[in-house]
Amino acid sequence: MSTANNFQDTGSAHAARHKIVVIQWKEERRCDRAWLLQNVVGAAGIAVCFKDMVRSIRCSGPNLRVVSTISAGHEHIDLAVMAEHNIQVGYTPDVLTDAVADSAVMLALMASRRTGQTSSFWPSFHWTPFALCGPQLSATLFSPTRTAGFLGFGRIAHAVLKRLAAFGITHCIYTPRPGALPQTVRDAQLAGALGLASVAPVALPELARGSDVLFVLAPGGAATRHLVDAAFLRQMRPTSVLVNNGRGSVVDSRALAQALAEGRLWGAGLDVVDEEPDVGADHPLVREPRCVVLPHLGSAALETREEMAKLTARNVLAGVLGERLPMALDY
Ligand code: DGY
Repeated sequence: MSTANNFQDTGSAHAARHKIVVIQWKEERRCDRAWLLQNVVGAAGIAVCFKDMVRSIRCSGPNLRVVSTISAGHEHIDLAVMAEHNIQVGYTPDVLTDAVADSAVMLALMASRRTGQTSSFWPSFHWTPFALCGPQLSATLFSPTRTAGFLGFGRIAHAVLKRLAAFGITHCIYTPRPGALPQTVRDAQLAGALGLASVAPVALPELARGSDVLFVLAPGGAATRHLVDAAFLRQMRPTSVLVNNGRGSVVDSRALAQALAEGRLWGAGLDVVDEEPDVGADHPLVREPRCVVLPHLGSAALETREEMAKLTARNVLAGVLGERLPMALDY
């Protein structure tokens, strides 16, 4: 959606009251870039998704006041350019936390239990006691400790951990943000509230070595690019599972595919991959039987997407009217 001076379609009653013109990409497929660039000319606000790069205001022109993205991530928006032109940026964190946390747990279970492989066995699957077994996510009488690791320990990670506590996860390790102060009291309180034996910060190699299941929930960008690389993966255990619901760029796809193929890692559940959106059936991770790859669906729950859409529209309208955005990115 973009708001522009040349009328094409009427928007909400709110828009009509303020004589705001709404131009909307209505097709159920990714917005065509040429269409976007053509229709953004003169816009006061634009709503985009994480696949639409916003790197300059060359096409929109100087009217632009707000860019509102229907995502929590914002790597596709050049914040230096936004700051230079005094453009507000709206985004949609929080409303998607539970949906993404649900899907992270789903991916952990799918990757552990080898569901990526199951469909290829029909119609001739022969059940045997150990066919398609995998490591159990929950702690058991026979294996009473389980450690969840988090690369990125923000809101979504906390929501995942809360869910995992119900599965009997006993320990949590995470890598703190560079320069962050130790949170010993908060960590102890969190462990107490969730009934875990411990929640503790660790360095990257210890995160790799110590995680039974590792959740990558870090934001993208230069600072996190390929933090999970061949050296990191070499330190993980052959029974461990890696889940990426953060950004594809944090994990080196080629190194992960190789680690999985060589059995150095049990499985991977990925909602995002580095090469997005150019991921075809021949991508090494899509072809890898120990890997489950979703096409970036972490927040794809109906209720959540509806809230994200509403918030995106409210952000863009507020920005066009020169008001403070309901959910502004502080940059
Ligand atoms: C986000 O919100 O950043 C998701 O990755 C896209 O919906």
